[in-house]
Amino acid sequence: MQQYVAPSTSLFLLLCCCSGFFPASLGQGGATSLMNPAASRDIVDQTCKKCYELSQTLSYAFCSASLVTIPVAHVTNLEGLAVISMELALQNATSTVSTITELLEEKSLDPFMTLSLKGCLQLYGGTILTLVDSIGAFMMGQYGTSAMWLSGVMEAATTCEDRFQEREGKASPLARENWSLFQLSGIAVCIIHLLSPAIPS
Ligand SMILES: *[C@@H]1O[C@H](CO)[C@@H](O)[C@H](O)[C@H]1NC(C)=O
Ligand SMILES: *[C@@H]1O[C@H](CO)[C@@H](O)[C@H](O)[C@H]1NC(C)=O
Repeated sequence: MQQYVAPSTSLFLLLCCCSGFFPASLGQGGATSLMNPAASRDIVDQTCKKCYELSQTLSYAFCSASLVTIPVAHVTNLEGLAVISMELALQNATSTVSTITELLEEKSLDPFMTLSLKGCLQLYGGTILTLVDSIGAFMMGQYGTSAMWLSGVMEAATTCEDRFQEREGKASPLARENWSLFQLSGIAVCIIHLLSPAIPS
């Protein structure tokens, strides 16, 4: 069985925040939220609202619940929120790989299920690497590349779901996992578009 090891991007994120990598740019948001948790809750709130308006597939409730529980969100701006959603997506993808590995150990699986799960294991394993690359590209200011790779992550989750849809009447055992990875990557793509409206969607 392959092992997927996610590098510790948390530490990277922390270092970047502490060393002032993220400029306190974009007017409101940045500097004020360093001192004021209410202000950062406002940024989360406004960002999730805008993303819902821009793409109705994104859930406002999921977005605000996911972003606001992360302590780092209390000292951040739009750039920071983008990294946080990618980081959450990375955690999601990593735990989904473990979930699939566990599912594959069940004795009662039929051949269709085994084959579909194995395909999904590869897809989700690939998203871990792609997400690490997306975070790297974003950190280097390559927003277009980052957004493109994140769309690839959303596509991978969808492709996995499609494997289960091929057999009618059988619900995907990874529906929830698809949902959160799709949402978290979608939020990151949306924030990149807010930061850089010229990037094609
Ligand atoms: C995925 O992320 C969401 C939101 O942060 C969280 O509620 C959920 O538990 C995560 N799922 C997994 C499998 O990590
Ligand atoms: C995967 O999740 C997204 C929402 O995050 C949803 O829009 C999409 O329909 C789901 N895909 C499938 C095939 O269920």
